Amino acid sequence: MGKFQVVTHPLIQHKLTILRQTSTGTKDFRELVNEIAMLLGYEISRELSLEDVEIETPITKSIQKTLSGKKLAIVPILRAGIGMVDGILSLVPAAKVGHIGMYRDEETLQPVEYLVKLPEDIDQRQIFVVDPMLATGGSAILAIDSLKKRGASAANIKFVCLVAAPEGVKALQEAHPDIDVFTAALDEKLNDHGYIVPGLGDAGDRLFGTK
Ligand code: PRP
Ligand code: URA
Repeated sequence: MGKFQVVTHPLIQHKLTILRQTSTGTKDFRELVNEIAMLLGYEISRELSLEDVEIETPITKSIQKTLSGKKLAIVPILRAGIGMVDGILSLVPAAKVGHIGMYRDEETLQPVEYLVKLPEDIDQRQIFVVDPMLATGGSAILAIDSLKKRGASAANIKFVCLVAAPEGVKALQEAHPDIDVFTAALDEKLNDHGYIVPGLGDAGDRLFGTK
């Protein structure tokens, strides 16, 4: 079973509280999503593997640590996932960025895929799938189906969100028990329209200022 972790760093909780408020406008919302994504990325990247490397300082030769293992791909689920990309890129600027375009049909709440553009060597990469919201779980499940279909290995996939509903976590873990899931908050429930309660509203609309 993959890992499920609520990342409860005080800075993350503080910023998330501001993010949730209706009075937070588009500019601050955008900045906060990136800042929280960066803090989440920092916590999650604790698990990256290291190897020894010999270097020369001005004083002597020395064995030090360097990142080893697989290169990283960040895969935002469009649109709202885009809001998290720069924050994570500020930690790992050389990461490649794939895109999975998906929207929820507002009546059925089912996700509809409209774009998949991934690095060619996606099967060789560690993958952070990013989307601020995990509500019913439909979008995340379909995005990860898409990645697996294209050769991504479950052991390399981490799903990273800001706010999750228990219903979405359960659905995602049932559909993909082999991936790791990280969130900044686990909220109470979904309402009748599939929105997370208390949540933060529609993440895409608030990030981009469009409906
Ligand atoms: C939102 C959000 C997730 C999805 C979560 O996107 O960004 O992708 O809903 O809901 P789910 O877990 O029930 O699938 P939306 O479909 O509103 O598209 P957008 O990002 O283009 O606004
Ligand atoms: N998508 C959002 O943007 N917000 C929710 O609360 C649920 C799905």
